[in-house]
Amino acid sequence: MAIPRETVEQILQAAHIEEVVGEFVTLKKRGSNLWGNCPFHNEKTPSFSVNPARNIFKCFGCGKAGDSAKFLMEHEHYTYPEALRYLAKKYNIKIEEKQQTAEEIMQQSIREKMFNINEFADKYFVDTLWNTEEGKTIGLEYFRERGYFDPIIQKFHLGYNPAKWDAFTEHAKKNGYSEELLEQIGLSIKGNNGLYDRYHGRVMFPIHSLTGRVIGFGGRILTNDKKSPKYQNSPESEIYDKKQTLYGIYFAKNAIAKQDECILVEGYFDVLRMHQIGIENVVASSGTSLTMEQIRLVKRYTKNITMLYDGDAAGIHAALRGTDMILSEGMNVRVVVLPPEHDPDTFGKEFSTEYVSNYLKENAKDFIRFKTELLLKDAENDPIKRGQVIRDIVETISVIPDSIFRITYVKECSRLLDMPEQTLTNELNKILRSKLKKTLGIEDNVVPETDTTTVTPKQEETVEDQLPTGYYQERELVKLLLMYGKNTIIDEREDENGEKVYEQVSVAQLIVDDLKMDGFVFTNVVNKKVFDIFDQAIDAGYIPDDQVFVSHEDETIAQLAADLLSTPYKLDQWEKYGIFVKREEDMLKATVLSSIYRYKDLIIEERRKAVEEELKTATDPADQLILLKQKKDLDDIRRQINKELGIVIAK
Ligand code: CTP
Ligand code: MN
Repeated sequence: MAIPRETVEQILQAAHIEEVVGEFVTLKKRGSNLWGNCPFHNEKTPSFSVNPARNIFKCFGCGKAGDSAKFLMEHEHYTYPEALRYLAKKYNIKIEEKQQTAEEIMQQSIREKMFNINEFADKYFVDTLWNTEEGKTIGLEYFRERGYFDPIIQKFHLGYNPAKWDAFTEHAKKNGYSEELLEQIGLSIKGNNGLYDRYHGRVMFPIHSLTGRVIGFGGRILTNDKKSPKYQNSPESEIYDKKQTLYGIYFAKNAIAKQDECILVEGYFDVLRMHQIGIENVVASSGTSLTMEQIRLVKRYTKNITMLYDGDAAGIHAALRGTDMILSEGMNVRVVVLPPEHDPDTFGKEFSTEYVSNYLKENAKDFIRFKTELLLKDAENDPIKRGQVIRDIVETISVIPDSIFRITYVKECSRLLDMPEQTLTNELNKILRSKLKKTLGIEDNVVPETDTTTVTPKQEETVEDQLPTGYYQERELVKLLLMYGKNTIIDEREDENGEKVYEQVSVAQLIVDDLKMDGFVFTNVVNKKVFDIFDQAIDAGYIPDDQVFVSHEDETIAQLAADLLSTPYKLDQWEKYGIFVKREEDMLKATVLSSIYRYKDLIIEERRKAVEEELKTATDPADQLILLKQKKDLDDIRRQINKELGIVIAK
């Protein structure tokens, strides 16, 4: 049952971050913040801070940050609603069930009914497996024959659906479940002669949600009938979204968090086998290719994924497909390839736990090694293919969000490929630049192609060089929005008659209006999200509170807000320039305006550079003319910006 929004706000307001964290971490006051040893990573000197005024925590060591609910989700591995219920209990807030619209009630009750019938079916399948003649001799025998022991069969609620066409359907109907619901949830199928069981004659795997409710089923055929698929799976429904589901996550989540690693396999039986031999941090993507949602699900518990795939070509291919997606989430991927004749199920059956664990340890390859070695094997003596391999691998490196990791991988790769680091760096930067241009909406291929193998190494690029242009300036503006969005300043401008008009505006309105008017759009997705929230709120006539962001349901927003709000803003930086401003309000105004101008200046400069590059290669005089005009316009804008920046600083 959903917790009403007002109650969520009430709970988050009542929760004092220092009290919530204080139950788990010893905190000492120092300055306006409280400090302790971070519970999320090992440390001896405290870098974990709690800011009671903003109601957030942040660790300056590992970067974890957020509000009270986030802390509980990280520390106790609660889901969001679980964290809220914990806080509600702690602060004696009653969770009133929400006044729902008729449609919501319908929707809600459909979901409830679906959970209900799945639970009913689950019981029936389990009961049939253990307590009927057919179940025991066919289903249970099948599992035992494959080397599965009773405890694992019980733990995973494995079951059996009799071979009779409508055994389950009849049983469900007798117990008051409607044909409509049976068909909707996919347990039954409508045929010419009425409703029959989708899974008749199959052993059953219930699929559990994160909290352990049955959301769907998979059923494996036991005959050699080539006409039926080996597995029948539930269709998607209001409660079963395949791209968000990982088989086994409910049984694996604690082990994943504890071991800080998630092992990813393909099939139901692979998960069962690993659990049986005591390796419990295992989930399966169940045959479909890995989705972004599944990766984010794992990310709630760990940043480390090990892909354990069959040693055959298909398995290797599947492993390759997933890696780029995992990397782009900022996670670490390793790959273990099994001997060609094995899948995790047969491997775990043949060898001891110890042997399997050692095999995993010794054969886990960092993705870059894995991919490089694999691709190079194909391209050994073929220079053209070799060039493709290099581009392919650098392309993969370019999806890693963290520039420091990218540099590390370039180094590693340069060793593996026996290729100068600078060559790879150049190639990488080319890709990064062209991606950046795409996000900025600048046409690509304005950069003349250079022969990367002959480029003389220039100074090594620093980390900053690889960040998108204006990155820090964007951050700075977002920080100002979050920290001072509600503060007001006096804006002065000229009206149509050239008269000066003074107007009191909020910092948020000033920033949003100014950037929007000139068509500037933030490059970074999260920055843009924050900007858009301000924009929409202002349209609706209010300015959002910082708590809206630190408690935002979009984790990337919550994280950014907690990060930015955790370090105070020095408004008195103006003294550095020998400029003394008396009133805080004036300091704020100068800071905001100069931030806007600096940001714009950088972006315009980037565009101007692009135009200049294009000019170098333009041969058509008409093109040249257009480009020259563009350049002049951009120069004019820059001059204007700098004039205004000068005015701000001189005041
Ligand atoms: N799968 C599916 N439908 C199929 C084949 C496979 O849904 N027709 C999914 C199942 O989730 C299966 C996974 O893909 O578990 C991996 O397939 P496979 O390796 O063929 O299945 P195993 O689980 O290894 O089953 P078995 O060992 O019994 O062949
Ligand atoms: Mn198998």
